[in-house]
This record gives sequence, structure tokens and C-alpha cells, in this order.
Amino acid sequence: MIEIAIMGHGVVGSGVAGIITTHKKKLFASIGEEIHIKHILDLREFPDSPLADRFTKDFEDIINDVEVRVVAEVMGGINPAYDYTKRLLKAGKSVVTSNKELVAAKGAELLQIAKENNANFLFEASVGGGIPIIRPLSQCLVANEVKEIAGILNGTTNFILTKMFDEGMDFDSALKLAQDLGFAERNPAADVEGHDACRKICILASLAFGKHVYPDNIHTEGITEITLADVKYAASMDSVIKLIGDVKLLDGGKMDIFVAPMLISKKSQLANIDNEFNGIMVRGDCTGDVVFYGKGAGSMPTASAVVADIVDCCKHLKARKYLFWADSTNDNIISYNESKTAVYLRLSTTDRETALAKVKEFFGDVQVLSIENEAENELAVITPVLSVEQITTALSELEKDGITALSNIRIGDL
Ligand code: HSE
Repeated sequence: MIEIAIMGHGVVGSGVAGIITTHKKKLFASIGEEIHIKHILDLREFPDSPLADRFTKDFEDIINDVEVRVVAEVMGGINPAYDYTKRLLKAGKSVVTSNKELVAAKGAELLQIAKENNANFLFEASVGGGIPIIRPLSQCLVANEVKEIAGILNGTTNFILTKMFDEGMDFDSALKLAQDLGFAERNPAADVEGHDACRKICILASLAFGKHVYPDNIHTEGITEITLADVKYAASMDSVIKLIGDVKLLDGGKMDIFVAPMLISKKSQLANIDNEFNGIMVRGDCTGDVVFYGKGAGSMPTASAVVADIVDCCKHLKARKYLFWADSTNDNIISYNESKTAVYLRLSTTDRETALAKVKEFFGDVQVLSIENEAENELAVITPVLSVEQITTALSELEKDGITALSNIRIGDL
């Protein structure tokens, strides 16, 4: 019997306890021993739970229990998860987590502590919920030079955008529905402003390129500015809008990494990934494009990945899994101003003809878009590929002529 503890009994934690209970035989067959949940840490009371006798409010019960070998941290947030995880690893206990905020902020340090203490620190559930991506990237694709990773990494925003495209639903109603379905973060700003996706692309970039990428240094846009007019213009080009976390390895070895909404062609493998589903495309030099698809949020999909990590730790109690990246100062990332892209612009103007002449003067050869019943005082175009700095400079020139950008969305080549 292998004793484990679970820290947190929320959406994910209750799923973890549930799977370990309901899939007992299946897990036994994989490990050859039974997993036994000895402690569940949560400040709330769960008197009706079948595991009611295992609950504790005191972390010391877990850290001081020498029988506990593996701990699932599914509390979320940095504090106290960071402190607890550090102490557990230093005590030689393996930790598995779904906590992307923790891995994105402290991954390098925690991996180092795990290494020093011959313990494992695994986090399959931190990106893509139930989709296997951490193991494939660190093991199955290891023979490749990864050139780019682009993903729909946030279920809540993908759900909202899908509802806006398919049902013309407004942003607030779609967000409320996502929250009711249990996809959204406790603070939904982390979803809709792109921070959750940012943490996930940072984890993938750190893993793929071997050095920690810190979220604070990454350009991050969300979906709060996207309107139903943008949805219609995108549809007019046979495209959809998706919130994409993207990291590209440039010649010279630096990364172009950001999170932003993108217009992508309906022919893209990522275009038909809808609702709360996530999709991650990895471009390898040997494999070409490999796409991972599945439920990226929700109790059971995420818990499935956490339990898989618990099983892996149970199978490697005396050996370390090689999962590691080094710390870094992020000097291997280009400034966002240097990032190159074509963009869709929706501009407000009192005179479309004069505005178009001005737009051509500053942006070169643009493609003009049109939709039924378009607003008379708006002009929508697709620009050629330019650097973000060139785009910003051109937009401020247009602003001087009273032409204002209402929308400015990257065109994705995915
Ligand atoms: N809020 C996250 C999402 C949960 O919507 O994808 C999974 O990380």
C-alpha cells in the first residue's frame, strides 16, 4: 500500500479523490500496489464525504507523516502552495500538481529542489487539463528540434469565443455559463485577460527549450476587446478568432513568445477546436505538426492527469523521472516590438476613402474586408507582415489623422 495525501478538495481535488476511489482496481493493476489516501488538507468541513475521516486542516499532519510518499497539490495559487511544495520536496516526498501558476512562477526552483532530494515534481495537469502534453513533449518528441508550439490553452475563453461565433452570444452571458460549468478560474480575469494561457505557454516553452520562461516578461492580451463585428469580419475571411499562446524558436536561438487573440483560417487544425476543449500544436523538425486535443478544464479531465502523475510517482519511488529545466534571466526572448505579424485592423473613420489612402500610405498593400450591413464609419483591413513596432508607429500616424484602431488582431499562420 502506498500512502498519499491530497492538498485541496475543490473542483480538481475532489476529482482526484473520486478517481482514486472509483478506479482502485485499474490503478492497482498499473502499480502492483494499492494507493491509499491518508490525508486530505482543506480548511472547509466535508462531514458527508465518504472520506470524512481523512480530512485535516493542518499541513503538519502531512509533512510529519513519514508514511506519506506522494502528495497531490491541487489547491491553486502561489501561497501557501509554494511553501508547502518546497517543504514536501525537501522532506523527500514527491509532489504532483495541477497548479500552473506555481509551475510557471517557481518551476525551475522546485525542479531543482526535487532533484537535490531525489524526489519527483510532476505537473501533467498544469497544461491542457486531461490532454497528455508534458510527457509527450519531454519524452516522445525529445528527438525533435521543436520549432514552434501554438495552443488554445484556456477552456473558458475558447468556450466564450465559440459561443460568440456560433450563437452570437454576448461575452458576459458566455462567461457566466463557463463559470457555472466549472471551467473558469476563481478570478475569471486570469482567463479572459490571457494570464492563465500565458502561464501555460511559459511552462511549455520552458520544457521545450530547457530554460525557465517567466510569465511577467511575456506580452499577454486577452479577449475582452473582441466584438461581434470582429466575429463577422473574421467569418467573412473564412476564419475564426482563437486565443493563442505561441512560442516560436527564431534563427539565432531566441524565442518569439506571446499570448494574443488570432484570426486563423478555418483550414487550420486549431480552428475547429471549440467550447472548453484545448488544442496544442507542436511543430517538430522530424515529426512536422503534431496536434494534441481534448478537455483542457473541468474536474475529471484535470484530475485524470493528476492521478496519472501520482501513479508515475508511485512507480518511481526510488528513482527520479528526468523532467527538468534550468533557471534563466529570459535574455533568450525577443522584445514584443520585434515580433512580426500581419494584423486585422478595424478602424473608425469619418471618410472611408481618405482613410483607405492613408492606411495604404502607412501600411502598404492592405486587403479590404467587407461584411453585410457594415458600419459606415468603419474600415476593416488586413495588413502585410510587419513588426509590432512598425504597426504601432503606423497606427499612431493614423491617429493624428483622426483614424483610430477599434480592433487590432494578429493573423495566425497555424
Ligand atoms: N480556467 C482554466 C481554463 C482551467 O478555462 O482553461 C484549466 O486550467
